Amino acid sequence: MATQTLVTAILPENYRFLQEHIYSQVGIVLEDNKHYLFESRLGPIVKDHGLKSINDLCALIHGKRNGEIGQEVVEAMTTNETYFFRDPSQYDAIRTVLLPRLKEERRDTRKLRFWSAASSTGQEAYSLAMLLLEDGLKDWNIQILGTDFSSKVIERARSGVFQQIEVNRGLPASLLVKYFKRAGLTWQLNDVARRMVRFDTIDLRKSMRTLGPFDLVFCRNVMIYFDNETKRNIMKEIHSTLFRGGWLLLGGAETVFGLDEWFDRQNVGSMTAYVAR
Ligand SMILES: C[S@@+](CC[C@H](N)C(=O)[O-])C[C@H]1O[C@@H](n2cnc3c(N)ncnc32)[C@H](O)[C@@H]1O
Repeated sequence: MATQTLVTAILPENYRFLQEHIYSQVGIVLEDNKHYLFESRLGPIVKDHGLKSINDLCALIHGKRNGEIGQEVVEAMTTNETYFFRDPSQYDAIRTVLLPRLKEERRDTRKLRFWSAASSTGQEAYSLAMLLLEDGLKDWNIQILGTDFSSKVIERARSGVFQQIEVNRGLPASLLVKYFKRAGLTWQLNDVARRMVRFDTIDLRKSMRTLGPFDLVFCRNVMIYFDNETKRNIMKEIHSTLFRGGWLLLGGAETVFGLDEWFDRQNVGSMTAYVAR
């Protein structure tokens, strides 16, 4: 009942204001038919702040776009869906093809650097950490960087604490038992795996050159939210963070327009990987 009032009450100028606010803050394009999304994601914020409608919420953020409530709205509108070993064929290809090659290339320095760009709550970066530990790389100098726009998800990622429902998604029982300890109703990742990953808040639209060089970058299930110009700029920046010949992995079903300028496509097992030129 209350949510229905929110939908019908949203004024066209406020709808446009929210679209522009989210685009300017995070680069996400929300089309004209996303009323249900605004309603379901912003409804709780309206309620928490004791407001009557999304229009009131717009009035509150209007004029102070970088304020806390403006950020809260942006974070509510981003999709943070993630899970352990998402797109298993990619992890299989890392284990069986990419890692053996990287180990050979880096056998002198025994140093490998990875980046989980748009890491959300950390399952992607930690899946990689466990895969590397399972591969016997404990004594190598391994650095995994996990970054996301949202400070909320980064805080959660840093904690290494996951709900039962989260460890039920994609994480093999053998790895749960080996790397996690039960902590009440949640599961805590052990320090060995946790210390391999450093998390930071980073907006992918900013310059990222200084983060590299990386051997492999995950940029999965985030490009779909951006327009072509933003995608192109992000691909260019990611390219600048990779070693020549380094790997970029997109989401299992993703392709990105304009990528061929900087990367060569390669089929590795049943996945497509992108090799930095
Ligand atoms: C659907 S999740 C993908 C998580 C993980 N990569 C995966 O595939 O499972 C998308 C993430 O992208 C982040 N994101 C959206 N726009 C961003 C931006 N401009 N800069 C950095 N991260 C952003 C969101 O906060 C969200 O956590």
